[in-house]
Amino acid sequence: MQETRIAFTLNGQPRLLPAGTSPTRTLLDWLREEARLTGTKEGCAEGDCGACTVVLEEGSRRRPINACLATLGQMHGLCIRTVEGLNAGRPHPVAEALAAADGTQCGFCTPGIVMAAWAWTREGGDPHEALAGNLCRCTGYRPILAAMSAMRDDGATAPPAAPHQSSRFTAAGQVFYLPASLAEAVALKRAHPEAWLLAGGTDLGLRFSEGREVPGCVIALSRVAELRGIARDAAGLRIGAAEPFETLLAACRTDPDFAPLAPYLARLGSRQIRAMGSLGGNLGTASPIGDALPILLALDAEVETSARRLPVAELLIDYRRTALGPDEIIAAIRLPRPAPGALLAAEKLSRRYDQDISAVSMVACLDFAEGVVARARIAFGGMAATARRARRVEAALTGRPLTREAARTAAALLSEEFTPLTDWRGSASWRLAAAGGLIERLWLRHAHPELPAEVMEVSA
Ligand SMILES: Cc1cc2nc3c(=O)[nH]c(=O)nc-3n(C[C@H](O)[C@H](O)[C@H](O)COP(=O)(O)OP(=O)(O)OC[C@H]3O[C@@H](n4cnc5c(N)ncnc54)[C@H](O)[C@@H]3O)c2cc1C
Ligand code: FES
Ligand code: FES
Repeated sequence: MQETRIAFTLNGQPRLLPAGTSPTRTLLDWLREEARLTGTKEGCAEGDCGACTVVLEEGSRRRPINACLATLGQMHGLCIRTVEGLNAGRPHPVAEALAAADGTQCGFCTPGIVMAAWAWTREGGDPHEALAGNLCRCTGYRPILAAMSAMRDDGATAPPAAPHQSSRFTAAGQVFYLPASLAEAVALKRAHPEAWLLAGGTDLGLRFSEGREVPGCVIALSRVAELRGIARDAAGLRIGAAEPFETLLAACRTDPDFAPLAPYLARLGSRQIRAMGSLGGNLGTASPIGDALPILLALDAEVETSARRLPVAELLIDYRRTALGPDEIIAAIRLPRPAPGALLAAEKLSRRYDQDISAVSMVACLDFAEGVVARARIAFGGMAATARRARRVEAALTGRPLTREAARTAAALLSEEFTPLTDWRGSASWRLAAAGGLIERLWLRHAHPELPAEVMEVSA
């Protein structure tokens, strides 16, 4: 594998980093301390506040990311724009619109908001959802949203992405591999069992950013061809394990069978998190509150690894533990389509609506035949050490019409199969009651499809 130096395009100019630059140094630290581009701010260093937002440009696409979670090694070959790169001798119209609408006060969040808004002028969608990853402590969002309504796409485009060649970067005590194929990645993991597998880094990145850890060996998966892309056919979706969530969200929005998942996926992190975070990473963490996991369990998804094919339920073996072998890499996830006429519902309860981890999540897929529930598949997150199916509730719903009473009776069984934790996101009794309420909402969605699924809904 070619030993090389990290190179990327920054604000339109090629940059070749000095030999020996730590490939796990965060982009944020490098921008501020080496490039002296201090417009990009550090607020939280954990992906929450958006003050560090920069934009990855690729052709006409603009993807906002959190520079605090991105490593320099991951940035190799990419085009990055910072807030300084928007000003051509005068403030960019996006910044001017914010100032004109009183959308800035202390200004600490403003560069991040300018970058998120600049990306949004190209990518479009709900402005509220586009800003979910940017916190402002003093202005309030109303003037910022008002400013966004006056912003226009400036039409600027970047070169298309160049084909990736496998690369290796070394620094004192560190080696960082950026393989192009699954075979290479597996061979590297076999040769370096201690290596960290890095996909989007929206979970692992906290160890570089907040934790200041300096791993000896990293294998980055984001350029492995077999782990990218989403293929769609009559059976369902085949989702590359390292494909960012934003692509999965777009695929669900444009596919009526999976469209009910879109508002739920639009609340997985923020645009910044979804531009980097992946389904493979969500499975890899095996977190009990990984939002993608109830989807995969409720639809009986299968995981293709470098070694085998297995149901998702068999991969998630315990709290933050998977059945992956030491050199096994998740390559793709096969997500089957719901049956025609099925009720597919996805619910997320969190303390804050935007950019928050779930307290309880539920994804349900109910098949109907002749007016009764023919098959029920209901998976919860936040109710046990792993995301898992509510088998007793499913059995109680099956074989009868989905009435309010039937839903309530089935919901009462939750306490027999789950013993949730009490933590700062919610008490055990609240979790059981809330999960019961979500089951009752299945009846509401079925009986009254004309009602909005949420009181406050981010548009799908
Ligand atoms: C601010 C913030 C908000 C967040 N909000 C949410 C949220 O709302 N819902 C939610 O579910 N999560 C959320 N997360 C967590 C995170 O974004 C997800 O878990 C995401 O799916 C991780 O994917 P990644 O590609 O970034 O994984 P990484 O961080 O790169 O890796 C995570 C783990 O998976 C392993 N791994 C990655 N890919 C593979 C693979 N192909 N094969 C084997 N192992 C692999 C890695 O070794 C590592 O152990 C949030 C994180 C942050 C920082
Ligand atoms: S510094 Fe807060 S998201 Fe990066
Ligand atoms: S203007 Fe002060 S934090 Fe937003």
